[in-house]
Amino acid sequence: MENRAQWGTRAGFILAAVGSAIGLGNIWRFPYIAYENGGGAFFLPYLFALLTAGIPILILEFTLGHKFRGSAPLSLSRLNKKAEWLGWWQVFISFVISTYYAVIIAWAMSYAVFSFKLSWGDDTEGFLFGDYLKVADPGQVGSLVPGVLIPLVLVWVITLGILFKGIKKGIEVANKIFIPALVVLFLIIVIRALTLEGAATGLDALFAPNWNRIMDGEVWVAAYSQIFFSLSIAFAIMITYSSYLPKKSDITNNAFITGFSNSGFELLAGIGVFSALGFMAAQQGVDVSEVAGAGIGLAFAVFPAIINQMPVMSELFGFLFFTSLVLAGLSSLISICETYIAGFQEKFNISRNKAVLYGGGLSAIISLLFATRGGINFLDVVDHFVLSMGVGLSGLVEVILIAWVFRKLGAMKGHANEISDIRLGSWWTICLGVVTPIILGYMMIQSIWVDIK
Ligand code: PFF
Ligand code: NA
Repeated sequence: MENRAQWGTRAGFILAAVGSAIGLGNIWRFPYIAYENGGGAFFLPYLFALLTAGIPILILEFTLGHKFRGSAPLSLSRLNKKAEWLGWWQVFISFVISTYYAVIIAWAMSYAVFSFKLSWGDDTEGFLFGDYLKVADPGQVGSLVPGVLIPLVLVWVITLGILFKGIKKGIEVANKIFIPALVVLFLIIVIRALTLEGAATGLDALFAPNWNRIMDGEVWVAAYSQIFFSLSIAFAIMITYSSYLPKKSDITNNAFITGFSNSGFELLAGIGVFSALGFMAAQQGVDVSEVAGAGIGLAFAVFPAIINQMPVMSELFGFLFFTSLVLAGLSSLISICETYIAGFQEKFNISRNKAVLYGGGLSAIISLLFATRGGINFLDVVDHFVLSMGVGLSGLVEVILIAWVFRKLGAMKGHANEISDIRLGSWWTICLGVVTPIILGYMMIQSIWVDIK
């Protein structure tokens, strides 16, 4: 335990945690979720979820990793022998996510290159599914698509190369480059988007509050899901990252910084994305609702169409946009992979290099499945499955086990308070022991209910 790897600096840890949190979820998920769930009014449930669940759970996970100095399964088993399985469950979810997250980053890499010549042409959707992913070719379902395979190999070489180098020289150095670069690129994107004709209409659509929706359970479910996914909590990540903290670290403070930075970036992304959508709507003379969307379609079909219509320097805008997706994605992918690398290393008592090779290698091989013709269909299915199994449920189990089954919240609070400037009061225990379980429990029942219907 004495020679456990450590972060070199406090900033290094924070940038790595922020790097994990800021990902595709901020850029292509948050803006649309906010728009769809009450616009400006969404910020109320969103802030509530951040302050009563997101940051408190982040503090809990940082404390677990810092106190028990192990991967998620090891730290949880040190909390209580009977909790190890929860760590493996979270590691498993992360493993599955890593197999397809890598593929999406590979697409973004291709699109960064396509930007130079706006290679996607006028029919951007047809280009994505036809020319690029080659979905509509039933005779050849299952064969690898070279245009995806090449960037995918590159994504894995970069990711595993960084992971081979370890915590301080690998993950920390990478995030110290990626995250500041991402913020600069993204600020340029947002400023450009804001100066486009029609931007104000887009922002209106995003921020106009629809207070009628505020009592709608679905809106609250959306807020909590977004906070969990976006902060990378209940995915074994934050426990693993904090296990490399030096003894004297202000974990509570770090959790607040991480939580607010992630939400700040979400807000920024919302402004950038909806300004661009407002521009697109103005060009086509339609309402913003006609062009608004999320996910793969937004990034790889709608954005290329927006880029096509930019009056000047559209190629550069496209390149910056897709490069920022790559940077945001890579820093999250690294953190997801580290959960099982740390887990395997400790469980099987193997070297870090072997854990990177076997764990990362296995994920890379499985990811090939999504680089085949028609692979995007598997990707959708797996993504849906993981999100419904992972987000919320494992968080709910985590807080109930720690608060009510093992009754360890008091001990965790004591540990955090020993070393932090911000003292945790009873608000923290109440949020985790009462408020969060009730709301997450309600969420689970509601989502099961929707599935049955
Ligand atoms: N937090 C990242 C985002 O908002 O995009 C995504 C993410 C990374 C989710 C890792 C889950 C995960 F395990
Ligand atoms: Na995020």
